[in-house]
Formats: sequence, structure tokens, C-alpha cells
Amino acid sequence: MEKILVTGGCGQIGSELVSALRGKFGNENVILTDINVPNYEVQEIGPWEILDVTSYESIKAIIKKFEPTRIFHMAAILSATGEKIPQTAFKINLLGTFNVLEIAREFGVRQVIVPSTIAAFGPETPKINTPNETVMRPNTMYGITKVSIELLGEYYAKNYKIDFRSLRYPGIISSDVKPGGGTTDYANALYFDAAAKKKSIVFVNPQTTLPFMFMPDALDSIIQLSEAPQENLVHRSFNVAAFSCTALEIAESVKKYVPNFQFDFVPDHRDKIAASWPQSIDDSVARKEWNWRHKYDLDGMTRGMLKNLNVISG
Ligand code: SER
Repeated sequence: MEKILVTGGCGQIGSELVSALRGKFGNENVILTDINVPNYEVQEIGPWEILDVTSYESIKAIIKKFEPTRIFHMAAILSATGEKIPQTAFKINLLGTFNVLEIAREFGVRQVIVPSTIAAFGPETPKINTPNETVMRPNTMYGITKVSIELLGEYYAKNYKIDFRSLRYPGIISSDVKPGGGTTDYANALYFDAAAKKKSIVFVNPQTTLPFMFMPDALDSIIQLSEAPQENLVHRSFNVAAFSCTALEIAESVKKYVPNFQFDFVPDHRDKIAASWPQSIDDSVARKEWNWRHKYDLDGMTRGMLKNLNVISG
């Protein structure tokens, strides 16, 4: 019987991941942990605990109580917030992951999955069709912690036989929980602003191009990676992608369905972060080793987002 612990379970990806995993493994077998208290309806569905991942003792107490076989370690500070509070980002992202891996080693947790990101690449990385193996010299604290997490996890896999797996997410767009403090948040904001009938002020250049993915694909990818037979995997850290587009293309895609939608571009410091990341990602390694296939392109995502936000029907 699998027992799964999710950290960051109230976050943008964590909250929807907990629901997806509970659908697959049963509510009682998935424990939600987060630094924040989940809302009342979520508390009723299954087990949950408050958890600060920088506290080794707190993680240990929960692992001893719940005895998980897998951990999805989603708790993290994203790129833009990480530049405001780099010391805290270091502690939560890197020290938090070190704590999780150490306790997994000590208590024999079989698998640890930690998402990585396009931010693990840097200005010297080839920007178009960035390969799975290439230069990784990020210049944000978020990116520095994430590339270190990949290396740390691979070290624990090699030396302590922990089944560590990681996938480098592009910008993730979703409608349930708003992202907080990321560079790719402008893309989410375009949809939320359209739903609120508000003019969107986009904080990057119209031509800023990044890879993106709609949440259902993000959930499928992390669950598929977790389930992939070990013998098929040569790598432990994988690029994953769906589609790439400019900020203007996302805005225009929304406008196609919301004709009176207004937007303007006022680039700030976050545009420089975006400019240091890949514009498109080669995820052929993931497609080959664990059969990764995305389902949503930009238009499919726009329709999905606008339906979820009750802007269009169907
Ligand atoms: N969405 C993240 C960020 O913008 C990238 O992984 O920080």
C-alpha cells in the first residue's frame, strides 16, 4: 500500500496534486502538509499537518507518524520572491530538500519527487530547444537552489538508493490557486484579470518568450514520472514541455475569447529573470524514457482556463 506525503500542499501545484493523488490512491493515503492551514473543506477530505520544511524535527515527527512510501516535495519559494528574500529562499528550497532527503534516508522512504524548473538554466544555456543535458549556471537564488536540489537528489539516489526523481517544469498556468512570487505569474494574471474584467498590466516585454504548461499536463507529468518503471529510467532529472509563446501571444489568445479584454506591457526587473531562461525546451528524453506526452497547446489551455474561471461555457 502506497502512502504519500505532499509538502507545499496548499500551493499552486501542491493543492491540485493532493486532489489528483487522493483520487488515485485514496484520501486517507495522501497526507497534505503545508506551512499554511488548508481551508476548511480541504481539512475535511483527508489527513493534513502544518509543516515548516526548514525544521528537521517537524518533518521527522510527521514521517514517523505517517510512514510514507513516497514524498512529493513541492514546498518552495519561487523566482521573483527568491530575489527579494534570497536567504529565506535558500533555507526553504535547499535546506528544506536536504531535510526531506535526510529523513527519507533515515526512515527508508522509497521515493522522493522534487520539481525543478526552467529557472535551473541560466543566461549561458542555449535558449532554443534547450537539451536535457547542457550548461546549468542560473543567476537567481531560486535557480541556484533548484540545480543544487537536482544534484543533491542524484547524490542520494547513487549513495543511499533513494528513488529520487525530478522534472524541470516550465511556467505552470492554473485556475484553482494563484501562483505566488514567480516570474511566470504574468501569464496566470492575464486569465484572472480577463475573468475579473480588469485591464492586465503585464510585467514583461510583449516578445518575451517562455515555455508554458497547463495544470492538467503538469499533474499528469509528475504522477507519470513517479509511476515510471525504474528500469526504463536512465536519467533522474528531466526537461518537460508543452508549448512556448510570447507574452503577447497569450494576451491575444485570451482576447480571442474575451474581445473587450484590455492589456498593456510595463516590463520590470522580472523581465530580466525571464530573459535568462530558455525560450523552448527539448523534452525528448522524458518522451523516450517515460513516455511523456502533453495534451494542451496554448489555445486548449486558454479555453480550459476561461471555462474554469466561468468566462466561457462549454
Ligand atoms: N514558475 C516559476 C517562476 O516563475 C518557474 O519555475 O518562478
